[in-house]
Amino acid sequence: MDKPASSMSSALDSLEEVGIVVGESSPSSFVFSVHPDLNNRVPRWEYVMAPLSKGFVIAQVQGVATYSSLLKKEMEYQALARLTAHTVEECKHWRQARVLAYIDDISKISVGYKRVRYAVAPGTKVYLAPDHILEKLYSGSGKTLYVGHLVTRSNIKIGLSVNGFRRHVAIIAQTGAGKSYLAGVIMEELLQKGGTIIVFDPHADYVRMTEPNEEWSADLANRVTVYRVPTSISRYPTIKNVKNLSICFSDLSLDEIFYAAGIDEKFTNIRRAVTQAYNRLRNEMEGGNRRTFTPEDLRGQLERISTNNNEDSQTRNSAFRAISYISRLERLGIFGDETTRFSEMFVPQHLSVIDLSGLSDREADLIAYMILREIIVKKTQPEERGFKYPVFLFIEEAHRFIPPDKSGSTWSSPLIKRIAAEGRKFGIFLILISQRPSKVHQDVLSQCNSQIIMRITNPVDQRAVLESSEKLGEELFEDLPGLDKGEAIVVGDLTNIPAIISVRKRRSYEGGADVNVDELLDEALRSAKDEDERKRQTEEDWEKFKRWSGLE
Ligand SMILES: Nc1ncnc2c1ncn2[C@@H]1O[C@H](COP(=O)(O)OP(=O)(O)OP(=O)(O)O)[C@@H](O)[C@H]1O
Ligand SMILES: [Mg+2]
Repeated sequence: MDKPASSMSSALDSLEEVGIVVGESSPSSFVFSVHPDLNNRVPRWEYVMAPLSKGFVIAQVQGVATYSSLLKKEMEYQALARLTAHTVEECKHWRQARVLAYIDDISKISVGYKRVRYAVAPGTKVYLAPDHILEKLYSGSGKTLYVGHLVTRSNIKIGLSVNGFRRHVAIIAQTGAGKSYLAGVIMEELLQKGGTIIVFDPHADYVRMTEPNEEWSADLANRVTVYRVPTSISRYPTIKNVKNLSICFSDLSLDEIFYAAGIDEKFTNIRRAVTQAYNRLRNEMEGGNRRTFTPEDLRGQLERISTNNNEDSQTRNSAFRAISYISRLERLGIFGDETTRFSEMFVPQHLSVIDLSGLSDREADLIAYMILREIIVKKTQPEERGFKYPVFLFIEEAHRFIPPDKSGSTWSSPLIKRIAAEGRKFGIFLILISQRPSKVHQDVLSQCNSQIIMRITNPVDQRAVLESSEKLGEELFEDLPGLDKGEAIVVGDLTNIPAIISVRKRRSYEGGADVNVDELLDEALRSAKDEDERKRQTEEDWEKFKRWSGLE
């Protein structure tokens, strides 16, 4: 057994002893037997420490087991009852602990998983890790974002290192696990720290960050702008700081129009007809005869071509078929007279919520594509024309924008891939959010060096997470189904060592919160009663009226 040095043993005196190392150990894990009276002090995910001949290891309890050598599972029930009535047997309580870090010296905590080169010797005493050590391990370095506390210790706050965002982040969990809630917490912190944030928000989850409350100051709420298509029917029609989200149709290239209208490459004749009509409108613009043009104008041109007897029948026919595609664009809400000035999003300490709720996948993709294009231009230009501060780009429902190759491509997909591969050089940091990691392009997911993983029970998605994350070992992987709502495993550059956290309360209002079925049913009951009462009253009034007017 390793004997701690004398200065170390005095440091150990103040610690709470909970067990003794038994059986076989390795540099990455050990097993210890827990003192029977202290069994409840060492739950799963609790932190312990054990001395080596020099320094200590900090470890997290991964496995919990209780064993009886007397009460065998093959025994008859009556035999078990007799034994338990007459014998006092102390069950054995074992814990399997995963080594997280090595500490040279309690007063100068240095962390380094690789540096644990020795196994803790059997017979070594195990102690509960004291708060001040965990605080140091999890306080993060440089600027940090306060997102919650350790699941097992509500007094130990977790600070995510802002520098950890340089290598992109993925937030992954099944529906309802709390991804958007946590993303909102991260946005609150980033905004307070001066960040420039853009979020693609397909469910209007973040639009209420424009509303101040007691904990979310008017100053911060005013730094949030919601961009929304004027015709979209939003769940939150009354919120403030809204700007129009629109694309001027004549700003689109032909390829962009083909994509928006769904005119596939193989429809060469239809594409040719649209090109002809488009070029006519462009010429009119260049000749100064019009400022812009709309999908209606393009349809008008196609109608003219389709009814022009000077055109050959093939051209007329193709123009006629093109009309139905372009008519679809007329019904979309995103084409206006002007293209939103996306450049306005590039100001320090500002959050732009791109409310894509109510839009089709193609519309949402087209808008995301135009914004991504602007971000790349702004961040790759020389400083005087570009934007020098980091841009944090949150992509909700990432699987919609960046699907695997086999599921077809989107317009945003190549730009997101480029940002994932090179963005950190220019200061564009991705935060991908998805409930279907298996439906997100693996190249992009594996570029996310940090991952925040919440509850996942679907085995296909669990595998996808494991494959894209070198840092999520098999042991943490097994914890995924056991997490509760609002709990998360953080691995990668955001924290010194992996952390299992409980996310803190939001300061700003959330948008897409779950409906409270209980409350709504009560309200429905009240409303039904009111309606009955109203009907009864109306009938009574009608009877009175009839009597009064002599109608009876
Ligand atoms: N840390 C938390 N504290 C309190 N409530 C939470 C927390 N996390 C989530 N919730 C609540 O749980 C519900 C679901 O959370 P959220 O919308 O963030 O889930 P999600 O993972 O984004 O789901 P989806 O994939 O469907 O978008 C919400 O009503 C939210 O208020
Ligand atoms: Mg969500």
